[in-house]
Amino acid sequence: MSKIAVAVFNRKGGVGKTTIAVILAQIALIRHNRVLAIDLDPSENFTSAFGFLKNTSFGNYFRTKKTLEDSDADCPEDWIVIDCPPSLDDTTKHAIDFADITIIPVRPDYFSLSPVAMITAMAEKHYNKSRSQLPLVKVGFDTSSMAKVANQIINDGGYPVAEEFALHKSIPYNISSGRIWSMGLTARSRQPYESLYRKITKAIDRLSEGEDDIHAVWASDEEEGEY
Ligand SMILES: Nc1ncnc2c1ncn2[C@@H]1O[C@H](COP(=O)(O)OP(=O)(O)O)[C@@H](O)[C@H]1O
Ligand SMILES: [Mg+2]
Repeated sequence: MSKIAVAVFNRKGGVGKTTIAVILAQIALIRHNRVLAIDLDPSENFTSAFGFLKNTSFGNYFRTKKTLEDSDADCPEDWIVIDCPPSLDDTTKHAIDFADITIIPVRPDYFSLSPVAMITAMAEKHYNKSRSQLPLVKVGFDTSSMAKVANQIINDGGYPVAEEFALHKSIPYNISSGRIWSMGLTARSRQPYESLYRKITKAIDRLSEGEDDIHAVWASDEEEGEY
């Protein structure tokens, strides 16, 4: 398996970036990977969410950093998860450039969707990424007319959607109480996060095999299996 570098970014705050970064890093740890968590947001929520790990057996397999360097590509960890601030500054651009995959969480609102075109165009033009390397994750899409409009914008733009997360009451509670997410969530609510994890693993395999269009990985219905 190749080393996996995933950034989570949207220029909008409060869309679930840190939550997704935390859950992915925790699933990677539980699945016996070594994990480097890079917290580029000055709020340091990503770092804080892992404070409890120091006193557990996971502590030896996990490291946090507040800056990203090119030399991190040679780090001993298998998974690098980068939580970005809600601004497209130089550190964020470097993260998008460095990462194989940048997850863009979106809520069904115009403010979280409007930066998507600019972010993907910038990554395609300046960092030679394909659009399929910046998949969206839909968070809290319901049956409201706003969500219908949001889905239309996503379809019309041809943006790949890697996964869809419902709003779970247990999530804000679990993150603030510092639980291992995939243990704190029920099997059903955990499923889409584990599916995202497996799809990312598969996407990185495809990229390392030389495929540059990984739309099909995001569109697939992942079954529990080889990852
Ligand atoms: N799937 C979810 N269900 C319920 N609440 C969520 C979910 N994802 C995120 N949240 C909550 O939404 C708020 C913002 O999430 P956060 O991950 O901090 O966003 P960001 O990093 O984009 O600012 C937090 O209170 C978080 O607990
Ligand atoms: Mg955040």
